[in-house]
Amino acid sequence: ASVEAATTKRFAFSPIEIATDATVHVPEGYTWEILARWGDPLFSDAPEFSHETGGDAVSDRIFGENTDGMELFEVGDKQLIAVNHEYLNPKLNLPQNEDGKPTSAADVLKMQNLQGVSVMEVAEGENGWNIVVDSPFNRRIHHNTPMRIAGPAAGHDLLKTAADPAGVEVLGTMNNCGSGKTPWGTYLTCEENFNGYFGSTDAAFEQTPGFKRYGIKGESRYDYEKFDDRYDLSKNPNEPNRFGYIVEIDPTDPESKPVKRTALGRFKHENAEVVIAKDGRVVVFLGDDERGEYLYRYVSNGVYQPGGDTENLLNEGTLYAAKFNADGRGEWLALTPETTGMDEIEIYVHTRMAASAVGATTMDRPEWVAANPIAVEAYCALTNNKNRGVKPNAGGDDTAANAVNPRDANNYGQIVRWRPANEDYTAIGFDWDLYVMCGNPNVHNDEYAGSSNVHPGNMFNSPDGMAFDTSGLLWIQTDGNYKNEGDFEGQGNNQMLVGDPVTGEIVRFMTVPYGAEVTGLCWSADRRSMFVGIQHPKAPFPDGEGKLARSAVVVVKREDGGIIG
Ligand code: FEO
Ligand code: CA
Ligand code: CA
Ligand code: CA
Repeated sequence: ASVEAATTKRFAFSPIEIATDATVHVPEGYTWEILARWGDPLFSDAPEFSHETGGDAVSDRIFGENTDGMELFEVGDKQLIAVNHEYLNPKLNLPQNEDGKPTSAADVLKMQNLQGVSVMEVAEGENGWNIVVDSPFNRRIHHNTPMRIAGPAAGHDLLKTAADPAGVEVLGTMNNCGSGKTPWGTYLTCEENFNGYFGSTDAAFEQTPGFKRYGIKGESRYDYEKFDDRYDLSKNPNEPNRFGYIVEIDPTDPESKPVKRTALGRFKHENAEVVIAKDGRVVVFLGDDERGEYLYRYVSNGVYQPGGDTENLLNEGTLYAAKFNADGRGEWLALTPETTGMDEIEIYVHTRMAASAVGATTMDRPEWVAANPIAVEAYCALTNNKNRGVKPNAGGDDTAANAVNPRDANNYGQIVRWRPANEDYTAIGFDWDLYVMCGNPNVHNDEYAGSSNVHPGNMFNSPDGMAFDTSGLLWIQTDGNYKNEGDFEGQGNNQMLVGDPVTGEIVRFMTVPYGAEVTGLCWSADRRSMFVGIQHPKAPFPDGEGKLARSAVVVVKREDGGIIG
């Protein structure tokens, strides 16, 4: 099938075919190069990456593993990228240990250092884009970086620990997934699957309802708790209440202390899309990436004034969860003591329970939200849902199909879009529709074939990362099944596509190596370079056969030097 849908000429490139190979493909007239790989030095005292030992022991001096959300910042004529390192492959980083399980506190420290966030200066020179090694802006933020806790839950009993009896300071941010950027120039990093870092050394550990709802169990994913008491639920049961937040980082000040903004709720945060409503209030859209969980919105009490004090804009406001009705309308349900019957502060710690209490709409894994810069509308990628009808979410909510998540056994996902009443992002009401229902028209001829803007030449599954460019085109990144067989035959490796919100047309721009997802997207200051994250390749990318596969950020440019998007 032709990759061209042959409708508008909105796109400045010819769409590409699927790929199943071990490299990156972009359209004719475009080039790509590597900017940064897991293990690349941010400082000259760090050794070069070793394919024998994985990330180095001085791992807080190097680019971490599994790149995810990222944003670009300008400081004078310098450009900084803040970028997440979502998780870690223990087998790659602890190759000397059986199954990659840590056997010492030093192993745990190495794992903790290789995740979190990198801030790095980047520059384009004669040999392309590179990290500016030893830039004073370069910084690693990891699982042991001190952070301030701010907002309503700061100081609450649920956040107090022996090491922090006041409940106002925590070490580290973890499972940093998507990102956001504030108009005042700070980076938002989003804590997603934090539950997997905690475990119990006491077999008699019992899950509280709060632990159950967030998937916090006696068994952890990384065994930190065996060597670091902070992660041992039997010794520090409140420690996990200090994760699952949005964290604000000032990338322009390497001495600044990151701040956990509890007013934006605690759940498995995907990204944080910030818009300024027409009255100047700050609105943040937030997805909770789990089957049967919710889409959220935060609205500040205060108004953003350029150059003004921004400290309380993400501390004082109202949190809402989305309800989508079958008639194409929806509403934001405020999470307050009156609506939830919950303690005012607990709403910010057990936000999922609050959203269940008000009857928000259970969703097919809300991933990134992106707001259109040239129209008052926002989009959320609902990546997929294999458990529909098999089991309810951990709150026991009814997760049956509904208008906005209409398919059982939803292996392909969809993207929902909403337009607030009166073009006002603070309005309670909105209209919604499905921008795309992903599917496979080669394999199916029913609802699983996808919506009318899906055809054999552009099909994909599991939309995840999304961002708008300044011209109002929606870039869509996938994190899905890349086997290219069965239900997914003809869809190939994960990919990045571009959608026109007006016509609905979607075209394929990029494919990535086998096994990788595409996640994280930002542009250089002049918009002539695009930075794209490639996470968890299984193919030997980018260093070739026999070498460890390394997550990487690549730069895409036009050969004619033109603006991208
Ligand atoms: Fe880390 Fe939901 O993606
Ligand atoms: Ca994601
Ligand atoms: Ca995903
Ligand atoms: Ca991921």
